[in-house]
Amino acid sequence: MLLEVRNLSVEYYVEKKRISALDDVSFSQDNGEILGVIGESGSGKTTLAKAIIRAIRPPGKITKGEILFDGEDILKMNYREFKNQILWREISYVPQASQNSLNGTMKIIDHFYDTAMSHGMEDPTEIIERAKELLKMVNLDSKVLEMYPHELSGGMKQRVLIALSLLLNPQLVIMDEPVSALDVVTQKHILDNVRKLNKELNIAIIFITHDIALAKYLTQKLVIMYGGEVMEVGKTEEIMTNPYHPYTTFLLKSIPSLRGDISQLKPIREGEISLSGCPFSNRCEYATDMCKVWTPESYTYDRRVVRCINYANKNGKN
Ligand SMILES: Nc1ncnc2c1ncn2[C@@H]1O[C@H](COP(=O)(O)OP(=O)(O)OP(=O)(O)O)[C@@H](O)[C@H]1O
Ligand SMILES: [Mg+2]
Repeated sequence: MLLEVRNLSVEYYVEKKRISALDDVSFSQDNGEILGVIGESGSGKTTLAKAIIRAIRPPGKITKGEILFDGEDILKMNYREFKNQILWREISYVPQASQNSLNGTMKIIDHFYDTAMSHGMEDPTEIIERAKELLKMVNLDSKVLEMYPHELSGGMKQRVLIALSLLLNPQLVIMDEPVSALDVVTQKHILDNVRKLNKELNIAIIFITHDIALAKYLTQKLVIMYGGEVMEVGKTEEIMTNPYHPYTTFLLKSIPSLRGDISQLKPIREGEISLSGCPFSNRCEYATDMCKVWTPESYTYDRRVVRCINYANKNGKN
């Protein structure tokens, strides 16, 4: 087991109001596994990624839970130790809308120097060689190193960031909507690169996406989120062919079959996420009065984790 998130909760405090962005989130990921996180806008995907790299800042706060990486709870580590030993070296992050996260005044090579040197890799020749090797992996020519971000297309910038995330040989790369802003051909290139990296280097990937078709193509395991809660966890193939949670069924049904982008669904309206009981109970066709007041636990059924009261009685059947 590479990563185990246990009962993780994150809250934001805005104008004296408490927003629960993650509530009791649990799942695990094996070494070298590609795990997809799917959910509508606002379901907590980015918050989850940020919690794993300890980047939740005020007004946000982790209020509960553990994040075990290689068996050690990284939330309990001294932050400096986490930053020096784990971040970039073991877990790296390609942020959402990351094309804008490159520094416009720095050449691409300087981004590689910066990251390498702040982690003790100091030989410039070694850094350049490694950067060239990584760019090749994501199908970019090494002349990109001498260019500034504005000279590159969106897809190229995204590939630079993926290359950069691999600089220190991490075991886990978290990619937050890495291809959402790109055209379909570029998306396919990048996904094929991601797959290749996963196969050749056995890097585990958390792939956050709106796009069910992409998740189906790329991932082995899925975490389905709604209103900050994990609704269902299971093998991608099994969830896609036979969803258990009513929310997963709803998602898979609402998606136009050709391109499975759930950001095309109408935005969630106020009141659609129930604040008490199961967050999906206001929209669920199977919801009972109980669902509106009582928050279900996560039940294990058929190697699947389902957070729905309908599975309460089936609990424990593995
Ligand atoms: N800095 C912040 N301050 C206040 N609330 C926040 C902040 N960041 C996130 N939230 C709230 O936390 C919840 C989860 O947000 P998050 O960005 O994790 O969702 P997401 O699933 O990544 O959405 P998207 O698909 O749009 O990227 C939302 O209700 C959001 O409004
Ligand atoms: Mg997000």
